[in-house]
Amino acid sequence: MTQNQGQISVTAPSNIAFVKYWGKTGRQYPMNPSISMTLKNCITTCHVTYETGQSEFAFTDYQFEGAQNAAFQSRIDKYLRGIFDICPWLKETCLSIATNNSFPHSAGIASSASAFGALGYALAHIEKNLGVLEGDLNTRASFLARLGSGSAARSIDGPFTLWGNYTPENGQNDFAIPLLNIHDNFDDINDTILILDAGEKKISSSIGHSLMDNHPYRTARIEQANHNTHNILSAMRAGDWDAFGSILEQEALSLHAMMMTSNPSYILLSPQSIAAIHAIQNFRAETKLPVYFTIDAGPNIHVIYPKSYSEKIKPFIESDLKSLCKDEQMIWDENGRGAHVL
Ligand code: DP6
Repeated sequence: MTQNQGQISVTAPSNIAFVKYWGKTGRQYPMNPSISMTLKNCITTCHVTYETGQSEFAFTDYQFEGAQNAAFQSRIDKYLRGIFDICPWLKETCLSIATNNSFPHSAGIASSASAFGALGYALAHIEKNLGVLEGDLNTRASFLARLGSGSAARSIDGPFTLWGNYTPENGQNDFAIPLLNIHDNFDDINDTILILDAGEKKISSSIGHSLMDNHPYRTARIEQANHNTHNILSAMRAGDWDAFGSILEQEALSLHAMMMTSNPSYILLSPQSIAAIHAIQNFRAETKLPVYFTIDAGPNIHVIYPKSYSEKIKPFIESDLKSLCKDEQMIWDENGRGAHVL
């Protein structure tokens, strides 16, 4: 039975890219395929109250962590009005939304992936309740999330997803798909996020993506990302942490190399980021333990290692990496399963 009014509460996690999405075209289509791990602890919960059959669209209230937030409200309002052609029912719907993040908002963690992941998932559920959902719910949710923030497309499923045209896996530009047949060695992965600088990004990701339009290394970067997608998938299917880790680190540094060589050029890494990278690489060389790093569009470093090695790697993080962090802040996360209804 369809319901023209109701409430839906969902949660969606953030994700960390192994192969980076950097550069986009058209209506939020990625310049290259990307692969990510869905997180478990860094999540957004989203409560949406809706009533259809109204004379016009109305976004009556938005609360972030229990308080009004004009900047977020205006971004969501723009997003919802921007998808009227895709969700025509929105044109006659009255909505109010409340969201909460599990991670501190001052931590410099990108929250758009979990925020739009949760909103896209909630909208897909509303379509189901209204009887207008066509096709698979998670596919629709990923599609809607992508239109809010590209990386959010990868926050619906887990533990690993692929987004972007990539023929060998039937990867699509419109939505992300879960990756199957990954080796048991990649079943449980830890991501310890070192919060090195919690400030606002100097250059937003939107500007960073646009600087790829005329980037001198654009063609080479597209080739590299396709090549790395192929090779990291082979490594993950073979259970090969060495091969996986070397691509992971190359991707992170390549993302930042793109920023350093764009016009204008810019640097988001801090001295602490470089110190953490060196500490991780030196520790790995000395101990031969499988511990690697990746980086998002900011200075924070994600320490990636198999959960089964936690006992050996956690003491190193506590003794050598924690002191580099702002106020010794770290987030202990791991791979998760994606979005769900509360
Ligand atoms: C560096 O998804 O934040 O994290 O589509 O403009 O919202 P928009 O960009 P966004 O880009 C994040 C890119 C990245 C790498 C990645 O997650 O693949």
